[in-house]
Amino acid sequence: MIRVRIPGGSYPVIIEAGLLRHAGAALKKLNPRRICVITNDQVWSYWGAALEKGLAGMHAAVIRVPDGEQHKNLATVETIAEELVKARADRGALLVSLGGGVIGDIAGFVAAIYLRGVDYVHIPTTLLAQVDSAVGGKTGVNLRAGKNLIGSFHHPKMVLVDPQVLGTLPERELRAGLFEAIKCGVIRDKALFDFLEKKAGDVLSGNMPALTRVIHDCLALKARVVAADEKEHGVRRILNFGHTVGHALEAETAYRYFLHGEAVAWGMRAATRIAEDRGMIRGADAERVHALILRYGPVPPLVQLRPDDLAARLLTDKKTRQGVVHFVLPQKIGAVKVVPDVPTEAVERAIAGLSAS
Ligand SMILES: NC(=O)c1ccc[n+]([C@@H]2O[C@H](COP(=O)([O-])OP(=O)(O)OC[C@H]3O[C@@H](n4cnc5c(N)ncnc54)[C@H](O)[C@@H]3O)[C@@H](O)[C@H]2O)c1
Ligand SMILES: [Zn+2]
Repeated sequence: MIRVRIPGGSYPVIIEAGLLRHAGAALKKLNPRRICVITNDQVWSYWGAALEKGLAGMHAAVIRVPDGEQHKNLATVETIAEELVKARADRGALLVSLGGGVIGDIAGFVAAIYLRGVDYVHIPTTLLAQVDSAVGGKTGVNLRAGKNLIGSFHHPKMVLVDPQVLGTLPERELRAGLFEAIKCGVIRDKALFDFLEKKAGDVLSGNMPALTRVIHDCLALKARVVAADEKEHGVRRILNFGHTVGHALEAETAYRYFLHGEAVAWGMRAATRIAEDRGMIRGADAERVHALILRYGPVPPLVQLRPDDLAARLLTDKKTRQGVVHFVLPQKIGAVKVVPDVPTEAVERAIAGLSAS
């Protein structure tokens, strides 16, 4: 179990293969008056029966929303809120998200604003959600103008991670989540990086103990970073390694070409190239980063970005302060530095170098 410390308290993250089938025992500790599960058809068809069994007789209303990032919007938030009213969910209700990052972000946001805030628990079912989005308290939805523009910090009361649910996850989604795990290794956890190198075969084939270890290490790291910087003013920014270029690539391809983790994979390689150009990282370490990312591929080929488009995207990055792009650059395996003065030409050069290789 990992405890995530937040201002005024903490919450547990329980990681255990088969946990879904005992979820009720954990949830009971929160004394919920009413449980409302928020999920989608896809996830419910695979794992609904296991969760219902796990609730061991506790009644739960189940609210299903359509699958997909395009439904992570205020219309879905309103639909869920109306359903909660119908299900007579009051202030004592407990929302439970069962799904990937999309469901988690929506459900967390509904929990933040329904009746001015109710408790919720995440049961993440994608690797990305298990290693990343389920911990940290960032919730929200998209506007037509951009991703995650509406949201709130609202922490879950508990996070229940069952690695077994990854058994039904498409392989491409699994690999996309593993790039976030590689990110954790590069920024702060050399032992995890070494493990991902040595045990790549086990991890990629979905070996349960190997995946459980990876999830545990990523969440332990995220818990430490979030505790130190709840609202992303300081050290939490290191979690954005690979995300500056990654977000630009996702946005320029209208979020349809790359999965998030895949765009981050290219972003991490670009950041590593920039660090190499600046002489910030030894060649051998940089090579290990590139090689590990390639080992966990394939990733869709890099797209060509027009320099102007890239520059414009970088300037809208949320780490940009007063027009200066902040880049998270690796110094060695397990250490990164936030660098405030990376010119867009250096980014272009790094990306061009990657396309050519
Ligand atoms: N809040 C945060 O801190 C944070 C961090 C990172 C990403 N995010 C958000 O997370 C979202 C992406 O999340 P995601 O990558 O999990 O995508 P997702 O939630 O869309 O899930 C991907 C697909 O896998 C399906 N799925 C989920 N679990 C499954 C399972 N066990 N078996 C079979 N299929 C399953 C889903 O139905 C979906 O079709 C984005 O909206 C992003 O903004 C939030
Ligand atoms: Zn990410």
